[in-house]
Amino acid sequence: MSGEGLFVAVEGIDGAGTTTQIDRYAAALRGAGRKVHVTREPSTGPIGTFIREVLGGRATLRGGPGWDLMAHLFAADRLDHVRGEIEPALREGAVVLSDRYDLSSLAYQSVASDLSLPAHEIVTWIRSLNRFARRPDVTIVVDVTPDVAAQRRRRRGAPEDLYETDALQARLAKAYLHAEVLVPADRVVHVRGDGTLEEVEALFRAALAPFVEPAG
Ligand code: TMP
Repeated sequence: MSGEGLFVAVEGIDGAGTTTQIDRYAAALRGAGRKVHVTREPSTGPIGTFIREVLGGRATLRGGPGWDLMAHLFAADRLDHVRGEIEPALREGAVVLSDRYDLSSLAYQSVASDLSLPAHEIVTWIRSLNRFARRPDVTIVVDVTPDVAAQRRRRRGAPEDLYETDALQARLAKAYLHAEVLVPADRVVHVRGDGTLEEVEALFRAALAPFVEPAG
């Protein structure tokens, strides 16, 4: 990547285990002497912080958190995230591991739209909102069966966010299985996420090995 870092997006339904896997992988990379920047969307910036308030029901949008308005908010947060955090870290040569990116908008907001328009029109529109968001070098999709993810979410015990209903998550799991359709120009690698932490960790590392060169 000509002196620049590597931009990795990690995706999956709620409870897929992306956060845990990113933390473990980041620790391993740092142990091997790599510069790593772990980040997430919604981001910790002002727009991302507001989105988390909406998702948790602590902030109210007057017309409700419709899929189209949410797509705008996520896209705005993404540009702020890219310009204010991801690109500076890449310029410093870091491996940037982002817990979610625009594939989340293409999956979640499409599914949440209940197809009030033909699916391809919704996807095209969400893509156009994210037209200027830099492409990841690689996207890892952690695929889990909805039941496994639901168990993990319940074990976590946190209050349910806006999109954490079992029916929506089941539809999202299907959308992620075919993630290539949503981002046809991107490099996407699937990792099976139903196993134990250690099993998934091994698969995750193997998936990224061809992209993340060893230090030195
Ligand atoms: P998480 O940090 O627990 O993954 O929560 C973020 C939630 O926001 C999750 O339910 C996925 C959702 N989301 C979208 O719907 N669209 C997006 O573009 C992003 C980044 C997240």
